[in-house]
Amino acid sequence: MMTGKARLAGVLGWPVSHSQSPRLHGFWLDQHEIDGAYLPLPVAPEHFASAVRSLIHLGFRGANVTVPHKEAAFRLCQEQGNTLTARARHVGSVNTLVFDADGHLHGDTTDGFGFVENLRAGAPGWQAGTGPALILGAGGAARSVIAALLEAGCPDVILTNRSRDRAEALAADLGGPIRVVDWDQRGPACAGIALLVNTTSLGMTGQPPLEMDLSALPQSALVTDIVYAPLETALLAAARLRGNVVVDGLGMLLHQARPGFEAWFGVAPAVTEALRTHIISGKK
Ligand code: ATR
Repeated sequence: MMTGKARLAGVLGWPVSHSQSPRLHGFWLDQHEIDGAYLPLPVAPEHFASAVRSLIHLGFRGANVTVPHKEAAFRLCQEQGNTLTARARHVGSVNTLVFDADGHLHGDTTDGFGFVENLRAGAPGWQAGTGPALILGAGGAARSVIAALLEAGCPDVILTNRSRDRAEALAADLGGPIRVVDWDQRGPACAGIALLVNTTSLGMTGQPPLEMDLSALPQSALVTDIVYAPLETALLAAARLRGNVVVDGLGMLLHQARPGFEAWFGVAPAVTEALRTHIISGKK
């Protein structure tokens, strides 16, 4: 139920019809019986800045920002009077905007937080400091994942990507203990690692499979995939068969949403089995 005092938020994207965020935030709004709404907000790139200003004028509390607006949101938050969290500055993109009463923007990036929280929830006792992490892929997702792992105390990141130059650029830009290895070395690079992460689109429904030789992977390594369709990717299935602990990627999506929801609606939401089932089922 909504009244005239409803709190408003939403997700800005182009397109935005594929976004799970309205279902996700809608679940929490219902669960906590909050007088509020979370809307899909399709906005073309050339209208992004004016759309954000309009949301402020409309009294919105804030918004999530998804493809292709994350860098534009970052730039808006660099303007006078606006702020960025340290992790948003490190990653160089923003997925969560909070509007204050003066109309200023506060930008955060929560994908890396979601990634780490998902591992903590799915593999209790996991610690980033245990040993090296091997990251497959060098896109925006890898950027958030690596920044969060370094912040959490990961001592050594091994980064591999089909286009090596993209991995080199990412390592140089983020700084810290990141070393790049060739894509065709991804199998041998598993030796001695404590964590394996796929951040590429390989293995996603409709995409090519991820071919990966796991024979050098220690059984003690945690394996995770940011692909969550299918929920159990071929990588996770193969690692599980070898006896590794695996964590699927859906939780990253769910956990990244927590800081925004709390800031806009004033309640700290929980990621529960009921929420997972709701998102997986696709039902209203
Ligand atoms: P995101 O920002 O969501 O991470 P992205 O920037 O499109 O998305 O990155 C996709 C990742 O999947 C990249 O690391 C990409 O490798 P390239 O940088 O070489 O393009 C990787 N990827 C996509 N298709 C691939 C394929 N067929 N083989 C190997 N890597 C692939």
